[in-house]
Amino acid sequence: MAIKITVNGQERRIAADPDTPLLWVLRDELRLTGAKFGCGAGQCGACTVHLNGAPVRSCVVPVSGAVGADVRTIEGLADTPLARVQDAWLAAQVPQCGYCQPGMIMAVAGILAESPAATPAEVRARLTNICRCGTYDRIAQAIDTLFPATTG
Ligand code: FES
Ligand code: FES
Repeated sequence: MAIKITVNGQERRIAADPDTPLLWVLRDELRLTGAKFGCGAGQCGACTVHLNGAPVRSCVVPVSGAVGADVRTIEGLADTPLARVQDAWLAAQVPQCGYCQPGMIMAVAGILAESPAATPAEVRARLTNICRCGTYDRIAQAIDTLFPATTG
């Protein structure tokens, strides 16, 4: 059936079953392959995108749940003030294989969007995404650079 969703500010129409995971629609129908498939069970965060500014795990969100909402993927983050998270990742040279990193960046950007007054420690505590390469120290460094005037 035809479904209309808004992704990165653009209205898109796709033919999909309403129960299709949003991640499949983004990757297979819209060719937005930044969000990755990791566990498919809402556990790892590799598939993180924003739904109305909040981070969600798109492998467990049916595309019907995105109708009427603003979906933003890593491909559209550069058009927002939260592009500074990508800049911080680059400056700290966080990625190793890189597979988990779009989800990491979108998760941190989503936490900051939801809680602009969060401290670095709070952002780190809320970040539950998994990195098989173990880049957690660099991730913590990158998060800290987003808060140049604070500690913790
Ligand atoms: Fe979605 Fe792991 S692939 S949480
Ligand atoms: Fe390889 Fe995170 S950088 S899984």
